[in-house]
Amino acid sequence: MHVACGAGFGAKSKWWQVIADVSKTNMTTANEHWNSIFTSKADPQLGWYESDASQTLKFLDAIPDISNATIFLSGAGTSILVDELLPRCSHIVLNDISDQALNKLEERIGKNEGKVSWLHHDISKPLPDGVPNADIWIDRAVLHFLLEEKDIQSYFSNLRLNLNPKGHALLAEFATDGAPKCAGLDLHRYSLEEMTERIGPEFTLIKEDRYTFINPFGDPRPYVYALYKRNKC
Ligand SMILES: C[S@@+](CC[C@H](N)C(=O)[O-])C[C@H]1O[C@@H](n2cnc3c(N)ncnc32)[C@H](O)[C@@H]1O
Repeated sequence: MHVACGAGFGAKSKWWQVIADVSKTNMTTANEHWNSIFTSKADPQLGWYESDASQTLKFLDAIPDISNATIFLSGAGTSILVDELLPRCSHIVLNDISDQALNKLEERIGKNEGKVSWLHHDISKPLPDGVPNADIWIDRAVLHFLLEEKDIQSYFSNLRLNLNPKGHALLAEFATDGAPKCAGLDLHRYSLEEMTERIGPEFTLIKEDRYTFINPFGDPRPYVYALYKRNKC
């Protein structure tokens, strides 16, 4: 089973030792739920599947230079965005609660030692030691699955602890008038105001958009996209 792997930090870090143990993080149920989806459906059958990542890339264009950036992709799934980011940045941390999603992604893009760190971890739990700090944190359709206040707070704490000074965070979640469920799960839908309040005063909103994604079944899915820049610390 793909639990976690990472590479490319050489003597600088013992990243390979950073193993998120499923049994210790209490994420078995969620892991199984997402695994069953990723093992039973081809990517184009997933309700959130997009064959074109340009909506996200449009936001990354607002960041001056990402070629030296480390990107943290929360709940990466099997997103095509990964293929787009790989040639554009220096390093990517690919996180997901589903080891099957990470397996499928690895089969598609390869292990990419030195370029990719694989992190099988529930993003609502504190990140393990050794995860490289990010210059850019990206989340499309992951945060909105966290329903309990403590999990949402822990998510934002991870974001703030992991992101470098002057780093950027792009959050793209179902808007308040969006669908109440996805993948069979209830959602916490977001307004721009709530996102901005939760990420905290040390972040400045630099770009936002209301965007209606048409899913593979032809259904409209309104999102709120927001790009924040960290002021200093
Ligand atoms: C709706 S999909 C979006 C996938 C990807 N971000 C995209 O845009 O295609 C949600 C993803 O988040 C992952 N996920 C759900 N809850 C998570 C959690 N607590 N921690 C990490 N990943 C999670 C799922 O396994 C799935 O890959």
